[in-house]
Amino acid sequence: MNVLVCGGAGYIGSNMTAMLAGAGHKPVVFDNLSKGHKEAVKGQELITGDLADFDLLVKVLKEKKIDAAMHFAAFIEVGESVEKPLDYYRNNVCNTLILLAAMEQTGVKKFVFSSSAAVYGMPKSVPITEDLPKEPINPYGETKLAVERMCHFQSQTGKLNYAALRYFNACGAGGNGTLGEDHKPESHLIPLVIAAAMGKRPDIKIYGTDYPTPDGTCIRDYIHIEDLCSAHLLALEKLENKSELVFNLGNGKGYSVRQVIETVKKVSGKSFKVTEVARRLGDPPVLTADASKAIKELGWKVKYPALEKIVETAWLWHSKNPDGYGK
Ligand code: UFG
Repeated sequence: MNVLVCGGAGYIGSNMTAMLAGAGHKPVVFDNLSKGHKEAVKGQELITGDLADFDLLVKVLKEKKIDAAMHFAAFIEVGESVEKPLDYYRNNVCNTLILLAAMEQTGVKKFVFSSSAAVYGMPKSVPITEDLPKEPINPYGETKLAVERMCHFQSQTGKLNYAALRYFNACGAGGNGTLGEDHKPESHLIPLVIAAAMGKRPDIKIYGTDYPTPDGTCIRDYIHIEDLCSAHLLALEKLENKSELVFNLGNGKGYSVRQVIETVKKVSGKSFKVTEVARRLGDPPVLTADASKAIKELGWKVKYPALEKIVETAWLWHSKNPDGYGK
C-alpha cells in the first residue's frame, strides 16, 4: 500500500516509516519538521508540509496514489496542553479534521490514528480495558478523544475505515537501533534517566514518592516502539474490511519510576544522582494496559516484554547519538 505517514520524521512516525518500507509498503512521509528530524526519515520520500494545508494534502493524496494515512503529527506534552489548550486543539483536532476532509475528498478511506492512554484520565481500575470510561483530565487527552469521536462519526457515513490505537508509554529504539527518541525538550522518563546516566543532566528527578504503589512512585506500562509499530501494520491490514477498530497497545506489565531508574543503572553500569521532588500535576498513580483485545483480534505479538531489553535498545541509541539527531 502507499501510506501517507503524517509526522513520519518524529519518534514513532520514523519507526513506522522504516517498518512500512521493510514490510513492502511505500511510505510517503508528510512532516512540517517543527519537531521531527529529516535524518530520521532515512532516505524514504519526505514531503515537507503542514497538515493545515488542505490543498497540499489533496494534491499529495492524489499524486502519490495514497491508499491509507497514519497520523503521528500531534503535540504530546500534557503540561504544555494545560498552558496552551488552543494550540493543542488547533494542531491535534483541527489539523486532523483537515486531513480527514482531504481524505474524504480524494476517496482515501483507511486511517490509523495515534490515540493515547490519556483518554482514560484517572482510571478506576487497572489493567485498563478499552471499554473503561473515557474521562480525560487534561486538554491533551481531550484532543485525542475528540479525534476518536470524529473518526467514529465519519466511519458511520461509510467514508472512513479507522483504527484508534491507544498507546501506553512508547520507548526504546527501533530500525536496528538507528531510530531513537529525541524530543526537544525531552520530558519522557527513560531518555531523561539515560541522559543522567550519560552525565548530560545533573540528576534525575522522581516526581512524587507518596503514591499508593509498592515503592511510592508512579507505575507505567512501557512498550517498545517496534512492538507499537507492528500493531499498526496489523491494524492497517484489518482495515480492508473493518470500519472501526480500537485497541490498547501496552505490554500489560507495570514498572515504577524507581524500577526504571534501577534498570537504566543496570544496563548502563553508571550511577547518578536521584532527587525526589513533589508530584507532577495530573499524573495517575498507575496506568497499565489490558492489551488482550489487540493480541486476540490482530494476532499481535510483543517482541520486547522485558523492560531491561527495551532499555538496552534505548541506551545503545543514546550512546551512539549523544546529541540525538544532532542540531
Ligand atoms: N517522571 C519522573 N521524572 C521525570 C519524568 C517523568 O518521575 O523526569 C515520571 C512521571 O511522573 C510519570 C513517569 O515518570 O510517573 C512516566 O512519565 P513520562 O513523562 O515518561 O510518561 P507519561 O506516562 O507521563 O506520558 C505518557 C506519554 C505521553 C502522553 C502521556 C499521556 O509518554 O506522550 O502518557 O498520559 F502524553
